[in-house]
Amino acid sequence: MNAHAPAPVTVTVTGAAGQIGYALLFRIASGAMLGPDVPVKLNLLEVPQAAKAAEGTVLELMDCAFPLVAGLEVFDDPTKAFDGANIALLVGARPRGPGMERADLLSANGGIFSVQGRALNEGAASDVKVAVVGNPANTNALIAASHARDIPAQRFTAMTRLDHDRAVAQLAAKTGAPVSSISKLAIWGNHSASQYPDITHATVGGTPATSLVEQSWISEEFIPRVAQRGAEIIAVRGGSSAASAANAAVEHMRLWVQGTPAGDWTSMAVPSDGSYGVQEGLVSSFPVTTSGGDYAIVPGLNISDFSRTRIDASVAELLSERDAVTELGLL
Ligand code: NAD
Ligand code: LMR
Repeated sequence: MNAHAPAPVTVTVTGAAGQIGYALLFRIASGAMLGPDVPVKLNLLEVPQAAKAAEGTVLELMDCAFPLVAGLEVFDDPTKAFDGANIALLVGARPRGPGMERADLLSANGGIFSVQGRALNEGAASDVKVAVVGNPANTNALIAASHARDIPAQRFTAMTRLDHDRAVAQLAAKTGAPVSSISKLAIWGNHSASQYPDITHATVGGTPATSLVEQSWISEEFIPRVAQRGAEIIAVRGGSSAASAANAAVEHMRLWVQGTPAGDWTSMAVPSDGSYGVQEGLVSSFPVTTSGGDYAIVPGLNISDFSRTRIDASVAELLSERDAVTELGLL
């Protein structure tokens, strides 16, 4: 690092010894998330039983001799791990197994996020950006935000970029177009089977996507395929998605920090400001643009009756998850 290098950014990754953690940490350390000139101090949080495995990952990170790594430390205490965090990637949580829905994890994982919300509140940097990956991600983000009273709720987001990328890949495969030619695809609602992958505003090489595919393909193949892709991966791979999830986490945060390209947007689950009839405060996925480290829900999109029904169904599920965690005393 030269004398003019920017100050290191402190990135805390929870679940560091897990599958996603292993795929994620090396990408962050290489500069894929924050850029090739930004040094990173990596704080790895694990439960005490897995701290040793995380130490093993630290040995491997050292052995990569990444020039951008300005610090590497393992913690089993959330307050210490989040001290000074500019970026927090909340991955650590139990994954679902075959036959489970992500919401089945609410009681198993919800408690993790109340503790981590309080720890973030205690010591995170004033500019902290939080992305929740651990499932059920939207409601876990809601829980964490509600326990971090001094941090604006808008800093708590949940990851739907994996769904976004899955949808782009499916549309590219269907139309035979490169993924890079696809813009303005959106994921709405919950990171669950009720999510709504929406191509009504998408273009493929500048042509409206809806003019290239049949409505029956959208409703009978595309939407279920994307919404059930996590279960498909579990069935075929024998474990929950890991490298693709890590890639999406890198993209979620890279775009939040570095900005979305002109003429496109990304999908992020963010606390609703009431846009598009989504109840204020629910952490729901929207199309968002980002610039200067801030994000904004894309305003003024035309919502068809079909889209309305789909968005409402997913938001209804988010409301029931919120009721469930309220009952569990987690909010
Ligand atoms: P994993 O079981 O391989 O790893 C999870 C790790 O989290 C474990 O090492 C565990 O010890 C650790 N952990 C548990 N509680 C913790 C706590 N309180 N603090 C710190 N660490 C803790 O699981 P994985 O495959 O890495 O998946 C992690 C989570 O991400 C799961 O909930 C999974 O469902 C979710 N996921 C979300 C998406 C998404 O698109 N939002 C995609 C894939 C996976
Ligand atoms: C995914 O979408 O792959 C993850 O949320 C894991 C899961 O349980 O589906």
